[in-house]
Amino acid sequence: MSGPDRYLSGPFFVQCDSGDLWVILRYSASLHGGMRVIALFGDIHSNIQALEACLEDAEAHGVTRHVFLGDFVGYGGDPGKVLAKIEALVSDGAVAVKGNHDDMASDFDREMNETAASAANWTRSQLSRDQQAFLDALPMLVEDEDRLYVHADASAPEKWRYVTDCASAQLSLEGTQSRIVICGHVHQPAIYGQASDGSISRFVPGDEAKVPLLSSRRWHVVLPSVGQPRDGNPLAGYGLYDPVSRQLEFRRLPYDIDGAAASIRAAGLPGRLADRLHVGR
Ligand SMILES: [Fe+2]
Repeated sequence: MSGPDRYLSGPFFVQCDSGDLWVILRYSASLHGGMRVIALFGDIHSNIQALEACLEDAEAHGVTRHVFLGDFVGYGGDPGKVLAKIEALVSDGAVAVKGNHDDMASDFDREMNETAASAANWTRSQLSRDQQAFLDALPMLVEDEDRLYVHADASAPEKWRYVTDCASAQLSLEGTQSRIVICGHVHQPAIYGQASDGSISRFVPGDEAKVPLLSSRRWHVVLPSVGQPRDGNPLAGYGLYDPVSRQLEFRRLPYDIDGAAASIRAAGLPGRLADRLHVGR
């Protein structure tokens, strides 16, 4: 995409939970031209309509690297289509880590309650053996320069703990030397910044706000969900990160929610899984 390299229409300030004021820069939507940009996708949950909307938006922003933060399947009606798309991108150099729903869909020995087992069994029935093997072989963690990609808490990824507050963000950061941890799992976006004295602040940036992940701090990023948002906003969500300027942005996009809900119902999955997509809960 051509256009000016970048221009600012800010800065403005956001007050985080600790009372600190953080400066947020607001940029035009098309200002990554020519720079390396990473797209971060978490919790797609078999929602092909939401994934395609996010991939299209990422392409329009000049994304050169795709990172998938787990939970590709589960809940939604199109696990096979979603996995086919992700496998193609991974074979082209994309990064992918395993989520708890991917683990359930590929682990035949795991003990589950009846509801989880029936949903996981349905998902498995939609996947080829190769797709199940792809899920089974996914790594739990991937390090990429100063970033660590993981589905849940970085200190014990296999325990699938949620990062929902400053204490859980601190625990996760203690599990790695990486300056930045990027995860999903929560389905509600947030950013935690840790100062050099160890104190941590949490805030949720507004749409289109670009957050500078300053090198003087460590950071824990919890991505919005692509395919099953739970923050009251039904729009599909993903992240853009520019490792040169160190700016992170959460993007929220309209997509074909009716189509995704119809796919869930056509699969015979619980209707509430379709209904919740309309309200983002
Ligand atoms: Fe999830």
